[in-house]
Amino acid sequence: MNVVESLAEVRLARASLSQPVGFVPTMGSLHEGHLSLVRQARHDCSSVVVSIYVNPTQFGPNEDFNNYPRDLQRDLALLRSEGVDLVWTPNDKLMYPTGYQTWVVVEDVTKSLEGVIRAGHFRGVATVVTKLFNAVQPHRAYFGQKDAQQAIVIGTMTRDLDFPIEIVVCPTIREPDGLAMSSRNVYLDPDERSAALVLSRGLSTAKAAFGAGARDAANLRNIVLDILSTEPLVNVQYVSCAHPDTLQELEGRVDRALLSLAVTIGKTRLIDNIVLG
Ligand code: PAJ
Repeated sequence: MNVVESLAEVRLARASLSQPVGFVPTMGSLHEGHLSLVRQARHDCSSVVVSIYVNPTQFGPNEDFNNYPRDLQRDLALLRSEGVDLVWTPNDKLMYPTGYQTWVVVEDVTKSLEGVIRAGHFRGVATVVTKLFNAVQPHRAYFGQKDAQQAIVIGTMTRDLDFPIEIVVCPTIREPDGLAMSSRNVYLDPDERSAALVLSRGLSTAKAAFGAGARDAANLRNIVLDILSTEPLVNVQYVSCAHPDTLQELEGRVDRALLSLAVTIGKTRLIDNIVLG
């Protein structure tokens, strides 16, 4: 496994990889969710490239950039055991040198949900993913359904900017008790960790109700809200039942929807979602 840091090195290493090239961008602190993307890329492609970069421009001023978990040696050992060909670990000076002033802004699909609470977040994500795509030039890039809005933003950007890259969205990987895997789960103390179970429980209860014929958007949101509200440690930021492509909030009868939520538990912010229909 080749591990490189500079832009010249990643371009050089990329040029000799066998095609098609699959790419998994990450911020490190890898778990089974990330590794599921790597395995899918390994299965689909002749070569696999992973980037590890905690991108400062997608964190707000009051967010956890400085405390974000980092463990490069552990991450590299995991990627080596998955048979990854090339790992790129760029740094801030390379990505955002003095005088940097160019941003990628995706408009409509960033205006709801995470975009309301995390102003500027998707500008940072779209910009860094553009830079990563330009350097790595993959044939396919793999993203998790866990960050459903991010996957839609990247899909929109890829189409709008004519990147010749297929965006593959892979299912959310969960702990055995249902909690969606996240690098931020390590912040949870034992009480918070058990409180966090209401997220997946709320979503799966609403999905079961949908399966049994419940179709009203407000009713589906309320099923989730009722379960979240049983847990005093959980502060709800939003529960949304939105169109799965436009992410506009739905009212009345729904046949397909993205049911998604964001909460804080103590200092930790968690998101989760489920697709209906
Ligand atoms: P990060 O949070 O490290 O996630 C990297 C990829 O792993 C994303 O596509 C994310 O959706 C996916 N992922 C995370 N948890 C998952 C889970 N439980 N199941 C399946 N996939 C999961 O997302 C980012 O980094 C950054 O925004 C990035 C795209 C790298 C740009 O900086």
